[in-house]
Amino acid sequence: MATHTSPLKNVLVTGGAGYIGAILPCSHVVYVLQKTRQYKVISIDNNHNSNPAALDRVSQLSKSELPADATEIDIQSTEIDSHKCDLTQPDQVRAVFEAYGKGGIWGVVHIAVSSLSHVPKTNTSCPFSFSKAYKAVGESSEIPLTYYANNVAASVSLLQIMAEYDCHRIVYSSSATVYGTPPIIPIPETTQMHAYSPYGRTKIMVEHIIEDLCHSDRKWRAVSLRYFNPAGAHPSGQIGEDPRGRPGNLLPLLAHMAVGRVKDATLKVFANDYPTPDGTCVRDYLHVLDLASGHLLALNALGPDSNVFDPEATDFYKAYNLGKGKGMSVLQIVEAMRKATGFDYKYEIVGRRRGDVPDLTADPSLAQKELGFTAPQDLETMCRDLWNWQTKNPFGYGECY
Ligand code: WQD
Repeated sequence: MATHTSPLKNVLVTGGAGYIGAILPCSHVVYVLQKTRQYKVISIDNNHNSNPAALDRVSQLSKSELPADATEIDIQSTEIDSHKCDLTQPDQVRAVFEAYGKGGIWGVVHIAVSSLSHVPKTNTSCPFSFSKAYKAVGESSEIPLTYYANNVAASVSLLQIMAEYDCHRIVYSSSATVYGTPPIIPIPETTQMHAYSPYGRTKIMVEHIIEDLCHSDRKWRAVSLRYFNPAGAHPSGQIGEDPRGRPGNLLPLLAHMAVGRVKDATLKVFANDYPTPDGTCVRDYLHVLDLASGHLLALNALGPDSNVFDPEATDFYKAYNLGKGKGMSVLQIVEAMRKATGFDYKYEIVGRRRGDVPDLTADPSLAQKELGFTAPQDLETMCRDLWNWQTKNPFGYGECY
């Protein structure tokens, strides 16, 4: 633990062991924070959709990149104070803050999101086997209360405990899903938010809760990051996306197909009758490390030296898109993964998937201008890094599936 005498700033990352869960960059965010050697990461995660092994890998990876003349503080910055902790249990969360005392935690990166929380295990002998992978957007319509409890109620509880312990800085993981079917493409942050699923609505609600909190008390500084589609993995192949069961997302599914983890090797393409160049949906894919770097920029923006916020502003709250600003269709992704893996993908066009929208491509210019955010890594790099992770870890972090 970094004490008050340490120059390291203690930062709590919720969902720290996730990739990004199946879609969240937690472990990559932890890596990027450690790389600065300015932050000491505290991770809380209920491990419903993540594997504690991921944090060990992150710590090893950060240690392996330390310079030969690394100081004791540098070494401390690669250690993670990890807690198995459920955000819906305030006492568990409070115990972590209590361990650091009032003012002991500098800020929070709140990434944990409810998903796969209820998926029944098909093989109890193996802790990682699930009957099937759910998608947050689809799953949330089946178990809305779980999503409202885990995403909204738990976020309110976290914010209350932060206030109790004089911690008033938060970076919140939001989502492009808040835009529903956006009227203009690429999508600016000024677009009205309107979600079609309980998952998307929880994201909008928590954004408003945090904004209202900042408006009520200028001690608070907060940034919401609206993720587009993160992809890829750290180029070392040490950390990556490890969805449980059959992936719901396109890229990890294509990786599982190529590595032989998915039996039926025919991809179902959810419709080609959308108003897009090739009729399949278009998404804005960005490298997960570029997305993770966006979190570091957002966290730094909450600091006293930041010029992101106007000191005279009525509140210190901002929301930013994290995307490349370049849309790619499903078929273009399949082709890119065919090149990266050498796998001969077969696909069939089936009906539309509930909750899909034709195009979610970001206008990233506000984050570029105000945070200095960039997402330079191209699709070929994302696919190459994803495939490198998958071939080195055919069964992800788990020993059995
Ligand atoms: C991409 C495209 C599918 C699987 C994700 C997260 C969501 C949010 C936004 C964070 C879509 C098509 C997919 C398949 C297919 N992120 N597809 N066959 O839907 O953009 O959502 O990013 O909050 O939570 O899930 O990503 O990878 O599921 O789908 O045709 O078997 O691929 O229709 O057009 P999506 P995805």
